[in-house]
Amino acid sequence: MWSPTLRPPVVAVMSVALFIGACASAPPEVPVGPDGEPDPVLVSGREVYAARCSSCHGSAGDGGSGPRLAGVVADVFPDPGDQALVIREGRDNMPGFDSRLSDDQIDAVVRYTREVLG
Ligand code: HEC
Repeated sequence: MWSPTLRPPVVAVMSVALFIGACASAPPEVPVGPDGEPDPVLVSGREVYAARCSSCHGSAGDGGSGPRLAGVVADVFPDPGDQALVIREGRDNMPGFDSRLSDDQIDAVVRYTREVLG
């Protein structure tokens, strides 16, 4: 039977679910380095990834309409320059970002996908 006393726990469970959902949709944070600060290049790479890439490749790089990047991208592209080229020029259903991202942003997002997504 419905009782008003059941409502607060339901609200609490929903809040937790929303909280977890919000975390899952943000790409992983850059870990702090030996100096206690995250590498600013990786922080900028994370911003680029969140804004431009996560919609297709998944917030944690685990894939979506685009292929999985996390854990595989460094094997697929032993040379990070080849990975940057795909991002610049695009390939099949992947748009090219040459005119929309600076060289520094492309280098930063390449590093982020290799070093933080793993
Ligand atoms: C509109 C969706 C979309 C967006 C946005 C997008 N990608 Fe892709 N990406 C794809 C698809 C689809 C492929 C597979 C292309 C193919 O079939 O060759 C791909 C391939 C790649 C590859 C090669 C993966 C491999 O295993 O060969 C890399 C690296 C990559 N994307 C990185 C990025 C980065 C970094 C961004 C953001 C700057 C980005 N992508 C934005 C859809 C997207």
